[in-house]
Amino acid sequence: MKKIGLFYWPLKGNVEAVAKKIKEQYGDADIDIIDLSKADPKHLFHYENLIMGCSTVGADSWEHYTDDNIWYQFLHKMEDDKVDLNGKKLAIYGLGDQMRYPYNFVDGMERVFTHLNNHNITQIAQWPNEGLTFKESEALHNNMFRGLAIDLDNDEDEADANVAKWVEMINKEI
Ligand SMILES: Cc1cc2nc3c(=O)[nH]c(=O)nc-3n(C[C@H](O)[C@H](O)[C@H](O)COP(=O)(O)O)c2cc1C
Repeated sequence: MKKIGLFYWPLKGNVEAVAKKIKEQYGDADIDIIDLSKADPKHLFHYENLIMGCSTVGADSWEHYTDDNIWYQFLHKMEDDKVDLNGKKLAIYGLGDQMRYPYNFVDGMERVFTHLNNHNITQIAQWPNEGLTFKESEALHNNMFRGLAIDLDNDEDEADANVAKWVEMINKEI
């Protein structure tokens, strides 16, 4: 069983760019990065630990399950299949844009996390609220984000260092 499965969606944008940055921090033997649109919930059991990557693309898309939202298709399949992850460690990252959407920064991470949290996971690698400029985020609890909150639109220069720091946090907790 590989150490880490990183499941992400959407493709070809910032979420995928961060998946690749995370992969660079590990050797090929330790991590697979998996396009969520090709995955089934049973694939989660192929890995000791999980990383999940998502973005926020507007409140409406997250609140209403639509056919083109792969995250929601996957999460609903997990619910239908009554997936029990049996305490597997799970770290989440979320892309957002703090300048254009300061009142909904990385809200999508909260929506995805809330669903995943119904499947007997152990949450790891919460991310401190430091150095970001936003007003509100559903993903912030006691000044910690559910996981890595990352803004490639405005803070690209800091991304590599923050990813490296987050991977260190993950490694300490798995
Ligand atoms: C239509 C649209 C709505 C968005 N809504 C939000 C939002 O509510 N909160 C937020 O933090 N970012 C929001 N964003 C910014 C994206 O989350 C951000 O650009 C992210 O990096 C996109 O990742 P991707 O390239 O993998 O899709 C929105 C972007 C678009 C295009």
